[in-house]
Amino acid sequence: MRILGIETSCDETAAALLEVKRGQFKLVSNIVATQVKIHARYGGVVPEVAARNHIEVMIPVIKKALGTIKKPDVIAVTAGPGLITSLLIGIQTARTLAYLWDIPLIPVNHIEGHIYANLLSGTFHMAASATIQFPAVILIVSGGHTELILMKGHGKYRLLGATRDDAAGECFDKAASLLGLGYPGGPAIAKLAEKGDASRFPLPRPMINTSDYEFSFSGLKTAVRYLVEKLKKDKQFDESMRVDICASFQCAVIDVLVAKTIRAAKKTKAKSILMGGGVIANVALCERMKDSVTQELPMAQLSYPERSFCTDNAAMIAMAGYFHLIKKEDYRAKHLDARPGWELA
Ligand code: KG4
Ligand code: ZN
Repeated sequence: MRILGIETSCDETAAALLEVKRGQFKLVSNIVATQVKIHARYGGVVPEVAARNHIEVMIPVIKKALGTIKKPDVIAVTAGPGLITSLLIGIQTARTLAYLWDIPLIPVNHIEGHIYANLLSGTFHMAASATIQFPAVILIVSGGHTELILMKGHGKYRLLGATRDDAAGECFDKAASLLGLGYPGGPAIAKLAEKGDASRFPLPRPMINTSDYEFSFSGLKTAVRYLVEKLKKDKQFDESMRVDICASFQCAVIDVLVAKTIRAAKKTKAKSILMGGGVIANVALCERMKDSVTQELPMAQLSYPERSFCTDNAAMIAMAGYFHLIKKEDYRAKHLDARPGWELA
């Protein structure tokens, strides 16, 4: 069976072909056309501009993903959450193709896609027998979401907690902008943080000691703003400070994410901890989580996707789609609409 995945929830136009044969997965193609450079000049994603670009590249991206394959057996498309104008391009394309080809069309939640990215392995390689040990605690950290979810089985989700204000990725992007770094801010901060001293400028760790699983990152962003403003006012701000603030900021975000995830995993007696979303591309976060899990939850299995599968892609949508498909729901009968605020749990 061949599943065509389509993803256009934000500023990546993506299509991927996932082949499933006797329980083995093969990622035949994984095409991502990113608009990052286009939006960089605005310092963030402009929905109207994103939609126009999706329209331009959607069909060429799908054609490239299909290669010599004339018709897939099923389509899985991101139906939400995301920017409505962006979502609609992928959905309308998927609906048209599914109608023409007379094949099922599966709506996939974007966050669920980030979870199932954990089952993917490198392009053109066979994935090992993909399994998730339940119950699993999932940490989702992206530009729009910061959530801890309890997953008790395929399709069984319970929200443990989420951010009350900014998402962690959004906070990376805003801090980067305050520090005069480009968009997206995550990779820029991560690069500078590598050579910085995280102890030079102490920053707050919001809500790190609360017993819930909620987050708050806007105070951290404000702390960076005041610090940079003060240093600039005193005419002290230099490159070494920029580098050290990056290290300190990144360390603060990681401390909070790791502490809350470990607490949630302990409390729920999780057998595995899965991570997903663009911020998981942060190597320091993955390393710290690995150390903490080894020390505090040695029996739990930690999983995070390869870097290329952390940020938005359609392979993860195809993979999540497969786990819906095997439930044998009748997708032909389903009316598929964009759901910009679709909550997974
Ligand atoms: O999942 P994603 O590609 O898109 C959304 O669904 O939001 O996540 C994008 C976010 C951006 O905020 C970006 O700054 C962040 O992921 N990001 C990173 C890194 N790479 C991307 N944050 C921290 N460290 C990174 N290496
Ligand atoms: Zn995403």
